[in-house]
Amino acid sequence: MTDQTQHSLTCNTDHGPLKGERLSVGYGETVILDDVDFHLEPGKLTVLLGPNGCGKSTLLKTLARTLSPRTGRVLLDGQDIHRQPTRAVARRLGVLPQSPNAPDGLSVRELVGLGRFPYQTLVRQWSRRDESAVTRAMEAADVSQFADRPVDSLSGGQRQRCWIAMVLAQETQWLLLDEPTTFLDLKVQVDLMELLESLCHQHGRTLLVVLHDLNLAAAYADELVLMRAGRIRYRGAPVDVFNEPALADVFGLRAQVLVDPANGRPFCVPVKGQGQQASGYAGRPTGATLTL
Ligand SMILES: Nc1ncnc2c1ncn2[C@@H]1O[C@H](COP(=O)(O)OP(=O)(O)OP(=O)(O)O)[C@@H](O)[C@H]1O
Ligand SMILES: [Mg+2]
Repeated sequence: MTDQTQHSLTCNTDHGPLKGERLSVGYGETVILDDVDFHLEPGKLTVLLGPNGCGKSTLLKTLARTLSPRTGRVLLDGQDIHRQPTRAVARRLGVLPQSPNAPDGLSVRELVGLGRFPYQTLVRQWSRRDESAVTRAMEAADVSQFADRPVDSLSGGQRQRCWIAMVLAQETQWLLLDEPTTFLDLKVQVDLMELLESLCHQHGRTLLVVLHDLNLAAAYADELVLMRAGRIRYRGAPVDVFNEPALADVFGLRAQVLVDPANGRPFCVPVKGQGQQASGYAGRPTGATLTL
């Protein structure tokens, strides 16, 4: 990362929490989140974990103002996020949805440029600052070499990095990223986690990241939030909440949890041969069985 990149990634840490109070959220008749309280600690990297369908994206979308809660509210710096203008929120809070779609034919530079929309108004058009924010975000996400290519001509992992660049170009204090490591090879996943860690610890950003890789989560998170069936079951530092009973309770996963002597962080090794009979599973069972 260049010095210039470092500078543009830095944000003011002097901001209040992002907080969901008594959130109830659902689709049609179905309630997914029922009376959930949630807050994000400024300056921390929080990773949200939980089984498929437990409500992670629903929670993230609610915090991001994409979904409206039926009851409860989301406060950004003490003000209801749904009562704030879209651009004002978008200058504070950047969101990477789980499965973003780029319009056909859009180039990488144009996609990343969309991250600057909160700063455009009738009287303030594209500026040098926008241009340099886009350039630096593409450098940070390592997509500069694709700048002029159509997004839809890239591989899945290359495309994912373009979306990350778009969110970085938004230069927001808050970043909510839903499965940003999807499609990335392991080395690029690690590079991304290092970038996210540095955004928090060196540049004052606050991040909420949904991941499925438990070990990546335990290695990089300041705080883990473990969710099951629409509820927050465990929350805390990886050393405090990443353990065998919690993994069995939340995922129905039998795993051995060990400690990495290099950094003191826990990691897990799944036990072979557990199939669907794993003890302690209490997610939302699908009733499906896999037969070969
Ligand atoms: N637009 C929608 N309409 C109806 N039901 C939905 C909608 N979006 C999500 N759901 C349902 O809400 C529940 C929670 O979905 P959500 O996307 O929040 O899960 P998730 O924890 O993000 O899962 P995953 O790990 O698979 O991304 C699921 O049962 C899902 O089928
Ligand atoms: Mg999801």
